[in-house]
Amino acid sequence: MSHDTPAGPGTALVTGATAGLGRELAEQLAARGHDLVLVARSAARLEEVAEELRAAHGTDVEVLVADLGDREQLRRVEERVLDPDRPLRVVVNNAGFGLKQRFLDNDVEDETAMLEVLVTAVMRLTHAALRAMRAGGGGRVLNVSSVAGFLPRGTYSAAKAYVTHLSRWANADGWTSPRPRRPT
Ligand SMILES: NC(=O)c1ccc[n+]([C@@H]2O[C@H](COP(=O)([O-])OP(=O)(O)OC[C@H]3O[C@@H](n4cnc5c(N)ncnc54)[C@H](OP(=O)(O)O)[C@@H]3O)[C@@H](O)[C@H]2O)c1
Repeated sequence: MSHDTPAGPGTALVTGATAGLGRELAEQLAARGHDLVLVARSAARLEEVAEELRAAHGTDVEVLVADLGDREQLRRVEERVLDPDRPLRVVVNNAGFGLKQRFLDNDVEDETAMLEVLVTAVMRLTHAALRAMRAGGGGRVLNVSSVAGFLPRGTYSAAKAYVTHLSRWANADGWTSPRPRRPT
């Protein structure tokens, strides 16, 4: 989802930026001239990736250590996204994981923890990003979903279906201007 952005690439925040798709997205954003804010749980790995990207691309890289499954830590990331003094042009909600067992074999607390990262964190950071971008100079949000969201395969699929629908709706909604409340 996006709307017009001012000239220049600006700063991009990437969650789950230390491995897999997030690491690759961070690399590609740096190669396009974006400065970066990298989010993950491991401080050591974040510093390692930040140093690699600074050396390879001359990018300014900030690291933000946070477990997105923890509401207090997630709040710190939301505050960074909303900071009007350090606006973000791109927010990538990428961090995620699946559970190894089937639904009824998983502890329900593990199911809840997965939902917090795959759904709650993505929703809250999308809300923060769109608000900040609507108030500021525009921007883009990229939510990493999965083809699993199109299949009835457990709670991971259900969570990714949420991400796909949220993102499709936000992309089409014209969220850039406040709307009057719809009557109920
Ligand atoms: N791999 C696939 O085949 C595939 C296919 C379709 C969609 N996806 C989706 O693509 C995204 C990335 O998957 P991936 O396989 O590339 O992941 P990955 O290689 O396992 O890397 C996960 C990244 O997320 C971070 N992370 C995990 N839990 C976190 C948490 N609670 N809070 C903050 N950061 C967290 C990890 O760092 P720390 O451990 O240090 O926190 C790491 O940087 C996910 O949303 C996944 O569902 C993956």
